[in-house]
Amino acid sequence: MSPRHFLSLMDLSPAEIRQVLDRATRMKRELSEGRPSDLLRHRTVVMVFEKSSTRTRVSFETGITHLGGSTIFLAPSDSQLGRGEPVADTARVLSRMASLIIMRTGEHERVAEMARHAAVPVINGLSDFNHPCQLLADLQTWQEHRGDFSGCRAAWIGDGNNVCHSWMNAARQLDFRLVVATPAGYEPDRDLVAACGSHVTLTHDPAEAASGADVVVTDTWASMGQEEEKNARLRDFEGFCVTPGIMAAANREALFMHCLPAYRGMEVTADVIDGPQSVVWDEAENRLHAQKALMEFLLTR
Ligand code: CP
Ligand code: NVA
Repeated sequence: MSPRHFLSLMDLSPAEIRQVLDRATRMKRELSEGRPSDLLRHRTVVMVFEKSSTRTRVSFETGITHLGGSTIFLAPSDSQLGRGEPVADTARVLSRMASLIIMRTGEHERVAEMARHAAVPVINGLSDFNHPCQLLADLQTWQEHRGDFSGCRAAWIGDGNNVCHSWMNAARQLDFRLVVATPAGYEPDRDLVAACGSHVTLTHDPAEAASGADVVVTDTWASMGQEEEKNARLRDFEGFCVTPGIMAAANREALFMHCLPAYRGMEVTADVIDGPQSVVWDEAENRLHAQKALMEFLLTR
């Protein structure tokens, strides 16, 4: 039987996403009650990371330890991938030993290639195109703070990037409305916008996006791999900082979210990210619980 992969939120049905979120909430409680699961006992997870990470790496490694398993972390300089061994061959070899592969990479096609040739589940730990694990944690956080998101409204303010794409998929899978405000030229992927239909609308006006929003989300203006564009982007994104003024345009109870790492004074002011509406530390913690639930889901299909 072919394994279930998680390269995108579209790889799970809406009901399955809700099942993973419910399990994540239960696992969070069970951890605090000292009731561990040993799903990964005597099993190894290989983490192929071709980009930097703090949260994704630490949350997966910690979660795998909680589940009784062990991890092997491969940076490009540690493995033959970094010296040109094909992704397909790596997938075949890792599948003979490991129970699960987690990959963080640039070009999305690399993680898709890993999944096509792996006999075990592959999880996308971020690609240039999307970041679905982040959204599981963000949705769990939204549920924890405000109950259900169905019929609600979220505002994305900033770059139409990988995290934005996963928010767009979340909107269509879980039936909320997302208004995406970007500078001209930084809109999200056109085909994905079309696929999201009425769940996603675009604007170039951050205050318009924030108006009536239940959640305001942003991310860095220069993602990993875009370091050389940073100065140009600083100019192009002027006016897109999430300030107290932008938060005031949203609903009074609106949450502020950011996947982190954050750059205070650029995409968000310190008083917003460190203020009372911000739930960024809960988002970061929930990476742990949501991904444990995801691993359990994929390994027990
Ligand atoms: N949010 C997130 O994925 O953080 P890291 O890049 O630190 O893993
Ligand atoms: N958009 C950012 C997210 C980091 C978690 C990046 O790709 O660098």
